[in-house]
Amino acid sequence: MTLDLTQPPQMHSPKERRVDMTDVLIHLEDAVLTFTLNRGHKKNAFTQAMYTELADGLRAAQDNPEVRVVIVQGHETFFSAGNDIADFLQAEGFGLDSPVIDFLLTLSSFKKPVIASVCGPAVGIGSSLLLHCDLVVAGDNAAFSLPFVNLGLCPEAASSLLLPQLMGYHRAAQALLLGEPFMAEAALEVGWVNQVVVPSEANVVAKAWALKLAAKPPSAVMQTKALMKAPQALAVKAVVEQEAMVFARMLKEGPAKEAFSAFLEHRKPDFTKHG
Ligand code: COA
Repeated sequence: MTLDLTQPPQMHSPKERRVDMTDVLIHLEDAVLTFTLNRGHKKNAFTQAMYTELADGLRAAQDNPEVRVVIVQGHETFFSAGNDIADFLQAEGFGLDSPVIDFLLTLSSFKKPVIASVCGPAVGIGSSLLLHCDLVVAGDNAAFSLPFVNLGLCPEAASSLLLPQLMGYHRAAQALLLGEPFMAEAALEVGWVNQVVVPSEANVVAKAWALKLAAKPPSAVMQTKALMKAPQALAVKAVVEQEAMVFARMLKEGPAKEAFSAFLEHRKPDFTKHG
């Protein structure tokens, strides 16, 4: 579908399913390219097609001199429920050549600034992708969680590297081993987000930051980002790939299958038979 990037995007209502619209809305205005996650009926759970859309959109933004800043945002009551669990159950398409890894590597090496606006639940990759954004504004209803262990899985998006660096090993273990959510204020305290506001203000703040950045000399902005990212760039790529290999294997194993089936069947998982 060809998108007119100059027209404001139309959001789905959370309960509405519209097959004629994309699950990621893309809008260019004032040198700011905004991706709006728009799969409301599944709380913006990511599909393979959404990763492809985001990765392609980022590549196009990289090459487009009219784009100076990127924003990623969701709904005022939910950012993303993480990867689509029905997709997980298929356990296909999570290898090194998969759309999700393409998206993560494209985002983590993206040269222009990326701002995220996050309200409500940000689960799994909905939280870990924020580690690759430059600025994050959160609604006071935001809840960040990485429940990989609860799903019989392991961390992704280099979160096993970046989260302990960001918040220290023990708090990262609270997020990654216990799978405990971090509410907005706790995320602010550990530096996962820059600012907490009422949900209706989150996109406004993100846009204000974007306009500030867009008014600055792009070369200075990009050089500064590149210098901050350079020392870790190779390590981040290596860890994304290493995690992906373990993750792809674990997806096919008993505990993960049990966790996904339990979620889809609205019951508690039973891991007593799974090692
Ligand atoms: N994959 C597929 N479908 C999902 C989903 C996911 N990750 N998260 C939510 N959905 C679906 C639900 O099954 C439900 O579909 P239905 O209406 O057909 O039954 C719909 O989205 C709404 O979800 P619901 O759980 O009713 O919304 P909620 O507001 O009560 O809770 C969440 C929102 C995000 C807290 C909750 O949906 C959740 O925990 N989701 C799973 C998150 C997860 O484990 N993701 C994987 C991370 S690796």
